[in-house]
Amino acid sequence: MLPDHIVIQSGPEALLKTFLSSQSFTKVAVIADEHTLLHCYPLLEKALPRHEMIVIPAGEEHKNLDTCILIWQKLTDLAFDRSSLLLGLGGGVVGDMGGFCAATFKRGIHFLLMPTTLLAQADASIGGKTGIDFQYYKNQIGVFQEPIAILMATDFLKTLPLLELRSGFAEVIKHSMISDQVMWEEISARSFNEQNWAALILHSASFKYSIVKKDPTEKGLRKILNFGHTLGHALESYLLGKGNRIFHGEAVAVGMIAESFIANQKGLLNAPDLERISRYIISVFSKIQLPTYRELIPIILQDKKNRGAKILMALPKGIGSAVWDIPVSEEEIKASLEYYSSR
Ligand SMILES: NC(=O)c1ccc[n+]([C@@H]2O[C@H](COP(=O)([O-])OP(=O)(O)OC[C@H]3O[C@@H](n4cnc5c(N)ncnc54)[C@H](O)[C@@H]3O)[C@@H](O)[C@H]2O)c1
Ligand SMILES: [Zn+2]
Repeated sequence: MLPDHIVIQSGPEALLKTFLSSQSFTKVAVIADEHTLLHCYPLLEKALPRHEMIVIPAGEEHKNLDTCILIWQKLTDLAFDRSSLLLGLGGGVVGDMGGFCAATFKRGIHFLLMPTTLLAQADASIGGKTGIDFQYYKNQIGVFQEPIAILMATDFLKTLPLLELRSGFAEVIKHSMISDQVMWEEISARSFNEQNWAALILHSASFKYSIVKKDPTEKGLRKILNFGHTLGHALESYLLGKGNRIFHGEAVAVGMIAESFIANQKGLLNAPDLERISRYIISVFSKIQLPTYRELIPIILQDKKNRGAKILMALPKGIGSAVWDIPVSEEEIKASLEYYSSR
């Protein structure tokens, strides 16, 4: 179940109109990137009162302090105050950075989030994490700050590039695997093209909300959301360092297979389930040539989730639940990468 301030509907215009009818703001600005300006803004423009536009370049490489300076400068020029509204229209980058700039400008102005990617609707928009990358570190600077509302319009997904949609699908698969066996069965019985996105977004967002409500600052339970991400992040960072971009979801897909193998080795996941998980994920995401484990281990040792020199992972416990802070050895990681490569 979602709280009242998180709403999912098909059309953005009606959604925004309803929200604005019960609110009043001194000023309104929309922050969009160059793609959401083109594809998403026209879908809600008519529902907006008089407003200003803040347009930022698209892409993770712009989720940094330089772009924040542009945003804060614009808010200053526009004389925004604490009764003003910044509306974030975009994927996880606009959401994280727009939310961060709003939370820190004059110690906090209202931020309304309208996520436009599957990843942002099913995952990133929920949980109040905002922030930017700093030097080579992802999400190094940030604060926890909830938007005043999150309005999810599934119509936005119609223009989302297919590879972006598939990348977000990895998080949807992850959420089902660690929370709901029935949902996992439903998802894995259909191909990527046959999924019912509205139902999956509702399920994923509701699940994430239920977890972050119980553990907002990731002291324990919230760590289960990191399933697939220890190896996934390491692979993503490694390839980024080599100048080879990989979609986040593709890396998480590899991570989910390898980490499911580790769960199997530890007696947490039976062999038929491991087989079903691996087969389905590989059917959706193409296979990736992995670096050697020696290349990945130093990156894995840097993971925020570790304690001291111990590598800790969130692992599935059967399909439909998960455990966290499970120590994993370098040998287990090596074997898991070999398992993935042998598939
Ligand atoms: N705050 C959190 O809890 C959390 C969780 C997961 C990920 N994230 C962050 O989210 C970011 C990734 O989010 P993302 O995958 O949404 O990336 P993104 O915001 O870069 O969007 C992906 C691309 O799709 C384009 N786009 C967005 N919506 C579109 C639409 N409807 N039609 C056409 N094009 C569209 C964007 O312009 C961009 O080029 C990362 O920075 C990650 O760190 C945050
Ligand atoms: Zn992720």
